[in-house]
Amino acid sequence: MALTPAAGGGCDESSTPSPPSQSARPANSDVEWDSFDPLAYVRHNYAVLRADDREILRRTRDFFAEAKLSDAHCVDVGSGANLYPALTLLPFARTIDLCDWSASNVSWLRTQVDSYDELWDPYWQVCAEHPAYSALTDPRGRLARVGRVLRTSVFDAPRHAWDAGTMFFVACSISADRAEAEHAIGRFLDALRPNSPFAVAVMLDSRGYSVGQRVFPAVALQRAEVMASIAAGAYDLDVHEVRLTPTLRDGYLSMLLTTGRTRGGAGPYT
Ligand SMILES: C[S@@+](CC[C@H](N)C(=O)[O-])C[C@H]1O[C@@H](n2cnc3c(N)ncnc32)[C@H](O)[C@@H]1O
Repeated sequence: MALTPAAGGGCDESSTPSPPSQSARPANSDVEWDSFDPLAYVRHNYAVLRADDREILRRTRDFFAEAKLSDAHCVDVGSGANLYPALTLLPFARTIDLCDWSASNVSWLRTQVDSYDELWDPYWQVCAEHPAYSALTDPRGRLARVGRVLRTSVFDAPRHAWDAGTMFFVACSISADRAEAEHAIGRFLDALRPNSPFAVAVMLDSRGYSVGQRVFPAVALQRAEVMASIAAGAYDLDVHEVRLTPTLRDGYLSMLLTTGRTRGGAGPYT
């Protein structure tokens, strides 16, 4: 996925609204998440399967296929209008909870979990290049059976509730507050039981993004700080930085995918 930067660069040249004020630094609770337009977001980011998403999808697929997971209670945090993280969990899931805080995204997710659009078929095809996934012949029906959509904030996620999880483009993209990004990563990892496999994707150096006519804040995270946040709650980390395609106009953005397993012990988020 390639969040359209709010200013200074973009994956397309369409006019984008002005960026959020740098001095404003909106917190997660300052943002009108219910005005997030899932159709505009999907149209822009996922209507065509991009090479960068394909790579992230392929690596996540291979990671979960090797993770010795079965009959697992899985979660995708901040699902928004993206089904592919949930698809990577599908063959191994007894349940998949797709969680988001935005009412508009939750409503979109409910229709997609019932029977997802053909747009997601190419994403499943990438999954099905692996035998662990191709054995599943009706992914659409399977998601309808095991998927459940919850309106939940990452900051309220219960501890040690799931066996495996994904959180894609959330920590970087839910506020302009660096501490909240770190907190979101911590809460996500802590929501998984000890030794659970997970995948986290973030945009690096993101300055905010547009969805339709609205602008949403972001934190310009650097690789080292993301790694430090994840390493605080996880081990066996595998990290891949994927450059966005096509190249952005100004500046440099990339996506960082980290897979690993959660540490045991009491976390800080009781
Ligand atoms: C940039 S979108 C990422 C969506 C999707 N995961 C993807 O890969 O494209 C950020 C998502 O975080 C959601 N969000 C914002 N605040 C949240 C919170 N406190 N808890 C959970 N999700 C939140 C938004 O509604 C939005 O769907």
